[in-house]
Amino acid sequence: MDLTTKIGSLTLRNPVIAASGCFGYGLEYRHVVDLASLGGVCVKGLYMAEREGHPPQRIVETPSGMLNAIGLQGVGVHRFVKEHLPGLREAGATVFVNICGTTLDEYVQVAKVLSDAEGVAAIELNISCPNIKEGGIQFGCSLDGTYGVVSAVRQVTHLPVIPKLTPNVTSPASFARAAADAGADAISLVNTFLAMAIDVETRKPILSNGMGGLSGPAIRPIAVRMVYECRQAVSIPIIGMGGIMDARDAIETKNAALAAARHTDVDLDRIEAALEAMAADIAAGGHGIEADEQFHDAVTQAAHSGLLAQMTSAIAGLIADPRLESLSRPGRPRAALRQHQAIAQAIRAGDSKTAARAMHRHLADSASTGHRGVE
Ligand SMILES: Cc1cc2nc3c(=O)[nH]c(=O)nc-3n(C[C@H](O)[C@H](O)[C@H](O)COP(=O)(O)O)c2cc1C
Repeated sequence: MDLTTKIGSLTLRNPVIAASGCFGYGLEYRHVVDLASLGGVCVKGLYMAEREGHPPQRIVETPSGMLNAIGLQGVGVHRFVKEHLPGLREAGATVFVNICGTTLDEYVQVAKVLSDAEGVAAIELNISCPNIKEGGIQFGCSLDGTYGVVSAVRQVTHLPVIPKLTPNVTSPASFARAAADAGADAISLVNTFLAMAIDVETRKPILSNGMGGLSGPAIRPIAVRMVYECRQAVSIPIIGMGGIMDARDAIETKNAALAAARHTDVDLDRIEAALEAMAADIAAGGHGIEADEQFHDAVTQAAHSGLLAQMTSAIAGLIADPRLESLSRPGRPRAALRQHQAIAQAIRAGDSKTAARAMHRHLADSASTGHRGVE
């Protein structure tokens, strides 16, 4: 299956890009995932100079997300080029650099440094930075500010320019339009939502900065709505993010679809053996946990995708407890076996769509929260 994705002149191996600030400078994660297998790695936001960021406390857990006010701590663009970019190049990463500025000129200067450096694939503009010449209003909260920063950077770089829109505006679509009119190659959204947490004992804000940005599952439906609105407004590519949590669903439904298209006889035998092992274990009073793992491994192998196999193994540790919890529920092992059989049947029939749908339903039913992804 061809997963390549185009953003202007840039072709990515696949559409999976690690979001800025959630993946350090990339190299910190090279032992967890092969950076070259990702569509892109977007590094932490960089100003011209180093910044310490805000003092603690900078992070608060909330019921369905996380609040952060890191204050854009960073090594500055020159140290990034010298100390981090060579390693990223060596690792074969497609590097997106998220850039920041307190003035329009700072964005331009940072963009110039990166345009002269070897190994930068694209510039993502973090336009959620306060413009100190305009009383601190964020560039991305004013249409003129958005248009101004995008067109200024556009003029000094050959690299794809991707402004990252803030969700803290009434109509993100009009900002998408301003960005496209200014020459953006793509837009990305959403950044975090302005939010606050208060300590009920002290009656004071928990974050040292008072307010912070909310990310995580709570924001996903709003992010989906905003991406939808922007899609109606502009035709340039949109990189969507915000609250995407269900890696297993994304990876394993793709595994099932590919398995239907690529399986060999040996793969089918392996899948069949896993079904038989699960039936035997359940008949003997067990929960079929090992056979469940065996089935999902067999489907992964049948997909014949190095990238998906690697992603599956990267999340294996996260799946272990939910698998145990799910299969310990009364009646669940038998239901899971029936769903495995449906997936296997679609794979055998070479029906990718049905295989993916059956896997999606299976994983949704397995989830102990009963959550069903609908986007
Ligand atoms: C700790 C942290 C640091 C972040 N740093 C940046 C940053 O430097 N530049 C930026 O544009 N977005 C930054 N973001 C926003 C994320 O890239 C992303 O847009 C947001 O977290 C929503 O996605 P999520 O819910 O999947 O985390 C940061 C987010 C977090 C949680």
